[in-house]
Amino acid sequence: MSEQDVIIPLEDPTWWQDPYPILGRIRDAHRTGLTDAGQKAILRWEDAEDLLKGDAFENEGLEYIERRGFRPGDALYEWRRHSIGALNGADHARIRALVSRALTHRSVDGLRERIRGHAHNLLRAGDDQGELEARTQFATRLPFLTIVDFLGIEMSEAATIAQKMGAGSADAFGPKVTQEIRDKANDMFATIMEFVGGLYEQRREEPRDDLLTALIQAEEGGDRLSHDELIVLFTNIFGGAIETTASVIASGIYELARHPEQAALLRGDPERFKKSAAEEVIRHRPGFYAAGKKARHSHSAYGLDFKEGEPISILIGGPNRDPSRWNDPNRFDITRDARIWSLTFSMGEHFCLGQALARAEIQEAMAALVEHCDEIELTEEPSWLPHVMVNRLESVPLRYSARSTD
Ligand code: HEM
Repeated sequence: MSEQDVIIPLEDPTWWQDPYPILGRIRDAHRTGLTDAGQKAILRWEDAEDLLKGDAFENEGLEYIERRGFRPGDALYEWRRHSIGALNGADHARIRALVSRALTHRSVDGLRERIRGHAHNLLRAGDDQGELEARTQFATRLPFLTIVDFLGIEMSEAATIAQKMGAGSADAFGPKVTQEIRDKANDMFATIMEFVGGLYEQRREEPRDDLLTALIQAEEGGDRLSHDELIVLFTNIFGGAIETTASVIASGIYELARHPEQAALLRGDPERFKKSAAEEVIRHRPGFYAAGKKARHSHSAYGLDFKEGEPISILIGGPNRDPSRWNDPNRFDITRDARIWSLTFSMGEHFCLGQALARAEIQEAMAALVEHCDEIELTEEPSWLPHVMVNRLESVPLRYSARSTD
């Protein structure tokens, strides 16, 4: 085997258009790979599961963004100090217990009807022309409207946060961070923290039935979140909820447009197939391209030697299309068993706290699309944006005929 055989070319923009053949070849022939920046990468389901459920690796802290050029005093650096994704062990468990208590008070199933209603309303925007740019007009708006309902905050507050956050806020955590991305991220995080800080003061004085108030009041064993922890957490939840979910919804629409027979199956019985259809797009087109961890101590695993603190990537497209878990894994098939979960929401200590909400949104979005639209087709083949943290199509331009049923 030459070293070239195992290189995963993240620098190459064309790799992002279809990373799966290269990931699959390296996974099946060599087990693990190396990114072109020299980082070890896990590609098999069994290895990823072992890594995430075991205790030999943990999340990276500030070093993750130091490698991306951020320094103490930068807004994003200070934000990450308290970010739930950067904590491990007892610090992480404490914050996770507080936030999961606040989040589980909100019922996801109770929101389904509203999500479906929002989805149909958004789709109507394209009916006159029979055309819709489904990424910006549908996939991005639906998670925004849903999170407003879910968090219970005012639409105007949510719109301000979303506008300050902007698209691509996750790219500061991606594989190729330029000075431009750093400057934009620092500006964005400084304004957002200030804005949420103001909201926090308001809710302390006038508590409401919303998530921010629930987080302020969240208490476990006499423990509460500090002012900074709370503001960061709220932005974690808000930021984590929109871009990722929008990415998977856009991918779902794209796949249904490319597979009319699968769209017809879903249209024939949306209640029966919406769960497996959503689960299939979640597997087939993961929201994040990778999850990063580091070795807790020096050891050997998966045929590799790790030094203490050494970073490792799980490139999610590898395990999510591993033939040891799914038959013919490169085929998009909405009839697969929805109980066989993929790695898109991770697993173990940092398993996504919003997965139930995200799953409900993706299910209702895909069901509403086929209920509302017949003869869905792409008016042009969109491309995937390269070097991003959250996998994104640049657009999803659709033509369809509106069904007369709604
Ligand atoms: C399709 C949409 C989504 C995807 C693909 C996704 C993916 C993930 C992944 C991979 C992680 C683990 C990261 C790690 O290993 O550190 C995570 C954590 C998290 N997610 Fe999500 N997520 C989605 C939607 C949401 C939503 C809707 C919310 C909030 C309502 C949310 C809130 C969180 C939070 C708070 C964590 C931190 C958990 C922890 O570190 O203990 N996510 N998500």
